[in-house]
Amino acid sequence: MFESFYEKLEQLGIVPVVVLDKVEDAAPLAHALMSAGMESAEVTFRTACAADVIRAMKAAEPKMCVGAGTVLTMEQLAEAIDAGAEFIVSPGFDEEIVAECIDKDVPVLPACVTPSEIIRALKFDLHVTKFFPAAQYGGLDTIKALAAPFVGHRFMPTGGVSTKNVEEYLSCPSVIACGGTWMVKPALFADGDFSEVTNEAAAAMAIVRH
Ligand code: 3PG
Repeated sequence: MFESFYEKLEQLGIVPVVVLDKVEDAAPLAHALMSAGMESAEVTFRTACAADVIRAMKAAEPKMCVGAGTVLTMEQLAEAIDAGAEFIVSPGFDEEIVAECIDKDVPVLPACVTPSEIIRALKFDLHVTKFFPAAQYGGLDTIKALAAPFVGHRFMPTGGVSTKNVEEYLSCPSVIACGGTWMVKPALFADGDFSEVTNEAAAAMAIVRH
C-alpha cells in the first residue's frame, strides 16, 4: 500500500514542516523551497489557514508534493483532503484517521514511537510511520532498536532534526526521509524576503544529494 508515495518520499529526502499564519506567505515559500530542490511541504493544521495554504502552495508550484500535517481530527482530515493534500501526517496514531485515509487512498504517516504503536500500524498494513518527537524519544538509537524486531519498517523522524544530524539519520536504512522546521522558520522570512529559506533548504538538500 502507498508504495509509489513511499518511493517519492525517499527521493524527497527532507519534508519541511510548515507553520504559516498568513496565506500570502504560501506562494513565495513554495517558490523558495522549489528553487532549492526541496519539492514538498507538510502544511500543519496548527494555524487556521492551513487548508488555504495547501491550495496556494499547490497553485504556485503545481509539481510540489503538498501534504497536511498535525492532522488531529476527522474535521481537519476532511478539510485537508478537500484542499488537495497529497499525504497526511499526524503526530500520533489515531485509528479513525488512518482508516479514513486508507479508505480514500490518501497516503498517511501517523507517528509511532513505541513497539505497541507500530504493531497497531502494521494491523493497517502501514510499513512507514512518522517518528515524533524524534529527539525526545531517543533519536536514531531508538529507531535502530525498533528496526530490529520490526524488520523492514521505516520511519520519518521529525522533531530536533537539523543540518547537524540529518545526514546521520538519512544514512540509516530504516529512515525513509526526515522532517523539520529549520528551513521554514517564520523568522527567516519575517521581512518578506524568502532568500534565507532558499539558502537553508539548498544547504539541507546538498547534504541529502551528496
Ligand atoms: C513537527 O511537527 O514535526 C515538529 O514540530 C518539527 O520539529 P522541529 O521544529 O524540531 O523541526
